[in-house]
Formats: sequence, structure tokens, C-alpha cells
Amino acid sequence: MSTFLSKFQEGLVYKGGTGHWAFIFHRIAGIAILLFLTTHVIDTAWVYWAPESYAHAVELYRSTPFLLGEIALVAAVLYHGLNGLKVIYLDRNPQGWGKANEAKLSWIVFGASFVLWLPAAFLMSRHLFMQVEHAPVTDNSAVISYINVGVLALLGIGLSMLWGASKGNRAVNVPMNFETRMYRFMRYSGVMLIPLAFGHVLIKDILHTVHVIDNNYVALYWGSWGWRLYDLALLGFALAHGINGLKQVLEDYIHNEKVMQTVRLALVIAWLGIMLYGGLAIVLFSTMYQVY
Ligand code: HEM
Ligand code: HEM
Repeated sequence: MSTFLSKFQEGLVYKGGTGHWAFIFHRIAGIAILLFLTTHVIDTAWVYWAPESYAHAVELYRSTPFLLGEIALVAAVLYHGLNGLKVIYLDRNPQGWGKANEAKLSWIVFGASFVLWLPAAFLMSRHLFMQVEHAPVTDNSAVISYINVGVLALLGIGLSMLWGASKGNRAVNVPMNFETRMYRFMRYSGVMLIPLAFGHVLIKDILHTVHVIDNNYVALYWGSWGWRLYDLALLGFALAHGINGLKQVLEDYIHNEKVMQTVRLALVIAWLGIMLYGGLAIVLFSTMYQVY
């Protein structure tokens, strides 16, 4: 444990400048989103496994401390996503990895995240200081936002195909082993998660907000197979990306191979367990649960 902490401290005092801080924030944001996602998938799956518990969980999400946490979560998703795009871009164009250029791009990412986050934070926090009337979410609005997000998802697929087809400027050839595949997966899934996760957070947390979400709301969305597939894709990409990211982070701090083997096994078991619990809820859910 003390080696773990000293490695962590070493990381904090390393004089890498702006790019180093961008890396630290990216890491903290990634882990924070994964922590939220784990709880979120489990409590959302209660809509199917334990509907009364879901109703209680959503009640909790509407309380002020949780609302503040959700506002911080949006900042983390925006920053991690945009900084992830920066990392992907620089990895494709390694000549840009110089300290000055990385610092410039990092400031653009900090600025863009902040500018996008401000209106979102206002929309989410206005319940704390004013009376807000929410239009009910109907079948119709669910379908309309489905079309919007369908377009966003296609954009994501198109972007990732374009990116895959384009030639990178890498000077070295790396062997195609498990680590190389996971390195690529982190980049492909990152691009896919821009429309998937940004679209999801925009609709659920910013436009609709936790104040209109309840069992009926989820039943409305899961009444459409398009949305079920969307949520399954989000679950699949976000969880695998986040858990592999956590493995990467732990490998930086744990250097005992035996301990790391156990950690990897625990991560695979957690990944399988959460995928099954959340995925089965989406697939098995029946809209007959919509009686509240
Ligand atoms: C506080 C912000 C968020 C709110 C209010 C929210 C709300 C919801 C709701 C209401 C559902 C039920 C399905 C639906 O209505 O379509 C859901 C499901 C889901 N959300 Fe979120 N979400 C938030 C943030 C996120 C983030 C940041 C991620 C991923 C990075 C995420 C990933 C998922 C996944 C994977 C499911 C399916 C869960 C399952 O299989 O049990 N959500 N979310
Ligand atoms: C929104 C779109 C996203 C993009 C564009 C993105 C991009 C990336 C990239 C490129 C990396 C690799 C960084 C590197 O090797 O230095 C990464 C790492 C990581 N991501 Fe994401 N990501 C996204 C969403 C998510 C989500 C939803 C989660 C959590 C479920 C997450 C958790 C992580 C973690 C824990 C790491 C490891 C961080 C590290 O090694 O320092 N990411 N992300």
C-alpha cells in the first residue's frame, strides 16, 4: 500500500506542466465516471429486478447532494471525452506530442469543456433556485429524441470507420497482441462513446433531468427496441472501456505480477457480472411493468 501511495505522490509532483495536469484530470474523471456507471447500471437494472427499489433510488438522485454530484459528473464526462479525442488525435499524429503543442491543445480542451458545461450546469441546477415546470415525456417525445440520437449514433459509426480507414503517421510497427488490440479498442470505443454517452447524458440528465425520471419513464424508453439497443451499446462500450481503463491505471501502480493477476481476474468477473445484470434487465424488461 505504501508503494502504491508513494507512486501516486511521485505522479503528482512530476513536472510535466499542463499536459501532465490534463493527464491527471483525464484519469480522475475516467475513474469517477466508472464508479458512477457501476452504481448506475445496478440501480437502473432494478427497474426490472426490483421496481420498488428503483423508485427509491431515483428519489435519492433528486436530492441536493446527488444533484450536485450529477452536475460534477457532466463536467467529468465532457472533459474526459474531449481530452480523449485529443489523445486519439495526437496518437494518430505523434509529431504533435511536443510539450508546447500538448499544452495548447489541453487549454482548448479545458476551455471547450467549461463552455459546454456552463449551460448544462445551469439547466440542471435551476431546480435549486427557481420553480421549474417540466413538460411530460410522452411516447412522441421519446420517438423524436430517438431519431436525433439515431443520427448521432450513425455519426459516431461513420467517424470511427473513417478513422479506422485513415492511415496514421506511426513510425514504428507494433505486434498485434492482446495489449495492442486493447489499446485500439480504447480509441475506437472512445470515438463511439462520444455520441452514445454525450447523447445519453444530454437527454437524461440535462434536457429531461432526474425530476421526470421514474419507472414509467424507463418503461417508455425500453418500450422501443431502438432505445434498448442504444442502451445495450452504451453499456457494452462504456463498461469494457472503463474497466480496461481501470486495469491500465492499476498496472501503473501495482508492480507485483501475482497481485496483478488476481486484480485482472477480479476485473473480468466484475465486468461479466455487471454486463449480465444490466444487459439482462434491458433485454428481459417487459412494458407490463409500467403500472405505478
Ligand atoms: C446523472 C446522469 C444520468 C442520468 C440521469 C441517467 C439516466 C438513465 C436512465 C433513466 C436510464 C434508463 C434507460 C432509459 O431511460 O433510456 C439509464 C440507463 C443507462 N445509463 Fe444512464 N444516466 C446518466 C448518466 C449516465 C452515464 C454518464 C453513463 C455512461 C457513461 C450512463 C450509462 C447508462 C447505461 C449503460 C444504461 C443502461 C443500464 C442498465 O442496463 O441497467 N448513464 N440512464
Ligand atoms: C465520452 C467518450 C470517451 C472518450 C473519447 C474516451 C477516451 C479515452 C482514451 C483515448 C483513453 C486512453 C488514454 C491513454 O491511453 O492515455 C481513455 C482512458 C480511460 N477512460 Fe475513457 N473515453 C470516453 C469515455 C469513458 C467512459 C464513459 C469511461 C467510464 C466508464 C471512461 C473511463 C476511462 C478510464 C478509467 C481510462 C484510463 C485512464 C488512464 O489510463 O489514465 N472513459 N479514455
